[in-house]
Amino acid sequence: MTTPISGFSKLSKAEKIAWVTKNFTTNPQQAAKILEMYWNSDEKVQRLHDEFIENTITNHYLPLGIAPNFLINQKMYALPMAIEESSVVAAASKAAKFWLNRGGFSAKVLGTEKVGQVHFLYQGDVAKLHGFIEKIMPKFHSDTANITASMAKRGGGIRNIALRDLTHKMDHYFQLHCTFETKDAMGANFINSCLEQFAQTLSSEAKQHTAFSKTEAQLEVVMSILSNFVPQCLVRAEVQCPISALTLSEEMAPQHFAEKMVRAVEIAKIEPYRAVTHNKGIMNGIDAVVLATGNDFRAVEAGVHAYACRDGAYSSLTHAQINGDVFSFWIEVPLALGTVGGLTKLHPLVQLNLDILQNPSAEELMQIVAVAGLAQNFAALSSLVTTGIQKGHMKMHLYNILNQLGASEGEKEQLTAYFKTHTVTHRGAVDALNTLRKA
Ligand code: MEV
Repeated sequence: MTTPISGFSKLSKAEKIAWVTKNFTTNPQQAAKILEMYWNSDEKVQRLHDEFIENTITNHYLPLGIAPNFLINQKMYALPMAIEESSVVAAASKAAKFWLNRGGFSAKVLGTEKVGQVHFLYQGDVAKLHGFIEKIMPKFHSDTANITASMAKRGGGIRNIALRDLTHKMDHYFQLHCTFETKDAMGANFINSCLEQFAQTLSSEAKQHTAFSKTEAQLEVVMSILSNFVPQCLVRAEVQCPISALTLSEEMAPQHFAEKMVRAVEIAKIEPYRAVTHNKGIMNGIDAVVLATGNDFRAVEAGVHAYACRDGAYSSLTHAQINGDVFSFWIEVPLALGTVGGLTKLHPLVQLNLDILQNPSAEELMQIVAVAGLAQNFAALSSLVTTGIQKGHMKMHLYNILNQLGASEGEKEQLTAYFKTHTVTHRGAVDALNTLRKA
């Protein structure tokens, strides 16, 4: 077993690589070469990436694709998508093109409220605690004035601070449940800085509050942190068209197609096993744009899935309806996104992707990302209720299989043509390549 190392972060990049490849790879020389292969040739760009995190040894890339032809609120967009799954960008592009000729997508932000909490323990008279919080409320604001000043200039800041009594869930447990408006910033740093100041104010003011007994004055802050559950930071995106315009499948009449789409969504609403996969498909679109724009996809994932089970059972994020001869399909998702701060100005590719999106505000980006999720779900469901998913997926995956088999460019071209009329499977690709090579 390798002996633990101390001071790893103090080693140079070369020393880190030497240590990890020697101790944890079967071929250290080759491993080092692979790591080096992914370094950026521009030293300045590489240094920037090195400094994003600790102990950087190389970059881990994902393909960045473009899904064009998205008409959102009557404005055209090309969506940058960072994702490794072969069929996602193709599916998004297909859905975008389909809706382009049917009025496009409409999207609307329903709320932008962010949340943070100071969790603390208090043993004593609850009425006295309420009186105390009321008394020090102005102090929460004045003590954070230096943190909130520039946010206030942009129209954001602290919206509300409320005392919550949660002693029915845990002995002595209270919290300050705080809401914020962070405008174009995702706002995590802003919120956490405010919360940590609230916590300090809370503790120090409690010590001096003469109405408190000795025990009451010792209220204990457990932690202060933003919440990634943001049900009031919500966006809705929708498509709608006459049923007769749902001419997606040659084999299936539009009315039948519309009914199957509604049924598929209904199943995802009532059946968690299906809902998780249904929503995973939505996240294919959402995460890809979130990543490309330098946003925190883990925060988005956590918040979205919590929202999907806000009523106690995990359910679909999308909805579908037939009303007379009109088919509607929509999504409502919480998305805490930023277009300033974080990586946005720092990461050259993120900055470029935001430029491709015509430098959206955070609210505009929320709409774009919700549309990406809706488009992805529309594409997935329309395949699932017609041909099945594998046909399109394996067509896109064929290149991965051929690359894995070491096919040349010429072989790839010939086999792509061959598989236009044959079902793609891994075995089929191996056999076809062998046949080609023998010919
Ligand atoms: C695959 O990444 C996503 C799908 O499974 C989504 C779905 O089933 O709706 C195709």
